[in-house]
Amino acid sequence: MNNLAILERQQRPLHRPTPFGQDVHHGLSQNAKAIPAKYFYDRRGSELFEQICRLPEYYPTRTERKILRDNAAEIAAIIGSDAEVVEFGAGAAEKVRLLLDALPRPAGYLPIDISGPHLSAAVAPLAQAYPGVTVRVVAGDFTQALALPAPLPQARCRVGFFPGSTIGNFTPEEALGFLRNAASVLRTGGSSGAGLLIGVDMVKDPAVLHAAYNDSAGVTAAFNLNLLQRINRELNGDFDLDAFNHYAFYQPAAHRIEMHLVSRRAQSVSICDRRYAFAAGESIHTENSYKYTPAGFRALAEKAGFRPAAMWTDEASLFSLHWLTLPDA
Ligand code: AVI
Repeated sequence: MNNLAILERQQRPLHRPTPFGQDVHHGLSQNAKAIPAKYFYDRRGSELFEQICRLPEYYPTRTERKILRDNAAEIAAIIGSDAEVVEFGAGAAEKVRLLLDALPRPAGYLPIDISGPHLSAAVAPLAQAYPGVTVRVVAGDFTQALALPAPLPQARCRVGFFPGSTIGNFTPEEALGFLRNAASVLRTGGSSGAGLLIGVDMVKDPAVLHAAYNDSAGVTAAFNLNLLQRINRELNGDFDLDAFNHYAFYQPAAHRIEMHLVSRRAQSVSICDRRYAFAAGESIHTENSYKYTPAGFRALAEKAGFRPAAMWTDEASLFSLHWLTLPDA
């Protein structure tokens, strides 16, 4: 396959504490205990997330797919031919197929993901399925400033793709930082025609949100608790998973779902050589999932330097897909 290149690897020096270990120790040492949501996605966590995406209560994945499918022709006409698609946090590189199928003659696909080996395995079949598309995998953290390889000579512009409302897992300040970073990365292919296609979950009836994060099969609870399992395995912890409850609720004032793991009793937990005390009812805050109104998201995008140009949604206004352009610098 000569249209596939693996371009970058971030390597950790040997014998240094992992960022995961550092973040867990830091997060559990605070008065309000918290662990960043990005650590959900070990192998088991990624499998559980894929199951979540197929749950009847979890509407975002299938709604976004339907929006993409229903509006493919219009999206393709707006983006045009010879674009290099840059996907932020590509994961299984599945949804991008809908976009690549719709676009007239896409020039390239440049997925960025922290999990390099996982991504490389996922894109090999994709590179085979799209022989005319130059696929260049970048293993790295897309939330940090990243130097991308030079634009393809045959590409007219770079078009970002950030589906799934992953932006909702950032605080509004982090979301602004991400959008600013994305704007500067996408400009590197020239600003004429460049833009970002981004999926954003919408503010809605809290009952719908509550069901989506408290599914009846208990998959979201297992996804949340798997974080403790990961700490036990990778950081030599002794969390008793039966001693914590999954707790997810909507905070209307902040427009966000909060996920927590709540201690069922007073207990202490050891991780490596340190101990952490939990009172009965004390929680570890594990995730925020922000929801946006169309106007709220457009205002954020404008602050980051984008010009909101189009938005598509579903009949029930559950989910939105925004096309943000980059004004000429
Ligand atoms: C990945 N992210 C957009 C999901 C969300 O809805 O915030 C993660 C998730 N957490 C619980 N269910 C799904």
